[in-house]
Amino acid sequence: MSKLPREPSASEITPPALYLRRRELLKSAALFAGTASAMGGGLVWLTGGEAGVADAGGPGAPGGEAAPLASVPPPADAAPPPAGASASASARSAFVTEEARTDYEAIVSYNNFYELGLSKAEPARNAGRLRLRPWAVACEGEIKKPEVIDLDTLLRWFPLEERVYRMRCVEAWSMVIPWLGFPLGPLLRRLEPTSRARYVQFTTLLDPEQLPGQRSDVLDWPYVEGLRIDEAMHPLTMLAVGLYGKSLLGQNGAPIRLVVPWKYGFKGCKSIVSIKLTERQPRTTWAQAAPDEYGFYANVNPAVDHPRWSQATERRIGELRRRPTLPFNGYAEEVAGLYSGMDLRESF
Ligand code: MTE
Repeated sequence: MSKLPREPSASEITPPALYLRRRELLKSAALFAGTASAMGGGLVWLTGGEAGVADAGGPGAPGGEAAPLASVPPPADAAPPPAGASASASARSAFVTEEARTDYEAIVSYNNFYELGLSKAEPARNAGRLRLRPWAVACEGEIKKPEVIDLDTLLRWFPLEERVYRMRCVEAWSMVIPWLGFPLGPLLRRLEPTSRARYVQFTTLLDPEQLPGQRSDVLDWPYVEGLRIDEAMHPLTMLAVGLYGKSLLGQNGAPIRLVVPWKYGFKGCKSIVSIKLTERQPRTTWAQAAPDEYGFYANVNPAVDHPRWSQATERRIGELRRRPTLPFNGYAEEVAGLYSGMDLRESF
C-alpha cells in the first residue's frame, strides 16, 4: 500500500474518478447533457401511527459469518430513542453528536451519486430528473411475506427522528449531517425475516432516464450495497428521508437512503427501491468493481489505508485543518462488539 505524503488532491482521492478517466476516455459523448434543475419535490410528513418494534444490536458471529436474526441477542441498552423517550447518555450522544453541523449548502452541493454525475457538483444539477413520487420499496427475499411498500406507507408506520451523525467518505473527507429518518431495525422485524436471513441487500433505482449515469458502464448498475443482518438491526443504522428538517434532495439519495455512520459513506445506498434479506453475502457494487480497494465491511478504520492514500486523517468539509479519523468513525463504543473475533485488516 502506498501512502500519500501530503493531502491528496480531490482527483487523487476520488476512487471512481480513476476508473472513469480510464473508461470514459473511450467514450466521446457527454453523459449528462440534461437539464439542471435540482431540487426534489416536497415530502409529505406523515408520521405517527404504529411505533417501531424494539430492535436488536449485538455481537456478530465470530469470523464475520452473519448470524441469523433469531440468534442476535438484544443488548440491554440498545433500544433506539423514540422521540422524547429516555435513552442512556451514551446512546443519546451517539445518536446526536455535539460536533458542529456541516452547512446545509455544502451537504446538498458536494455529493457522490454516480448515477447523477461523476463530479461532486453534477448530482445537484441533475437531481431534478429523479421522480420522487410515487415511490415504493420492494421488501423481498428471506422474509415471511414479501411486499412492495409505498414510501408514504413506510412514513406512516415509522415515526421520524433526527439523528446527527458524522459521515466519513472513503475519499478522506467528512461531514456532520442532521438526518431525518427512522431506524432500519423495526422495519426488518416487521418483515419477519426467516431463519435463513443473514444479510440485507439494498438496491438503488435502475432507470437511465432518471439516472443518466447508468448509461455509462463505469459501474455495474444498479448500485447495490449490503450489511450483515446484525449490522442492519443495530440501532444506529437508519433509513433517511430528509436532512436539516427538510425532505431529502435527489443528490442526497431521495426519497429514501441508507445511513450507517460507522462505515465509509459508500455503504449508504441512495434512492432505494429494494431491501432484500439474503442467506448469502450480497455482491456489492464497489467491492465487485475494485475488491482490493473496497471491502464488504467498509468500517471506518484509520489503521487500514486505502491502497492509494492514508485513512489516518480526514478533511471535515468547512474546516481548514485535517483531523484524525476515529476507529468506526467515533462509534466504536456502540459497534466494535459486532466484530469481536474478526481480523479487521482482512475483513475490510
Ligand atoms: N449510492 C448510489 N446509488 N450511488 C452512489 O454513487 N455514492 C456513495 C453513497 N451512496 C453513491 C451512493 C458515496 S461514495 C458516498 S460518500 C455517499 O453516498 C455520499 O452521500 P452524500 O452525497 O449524501 O453526501
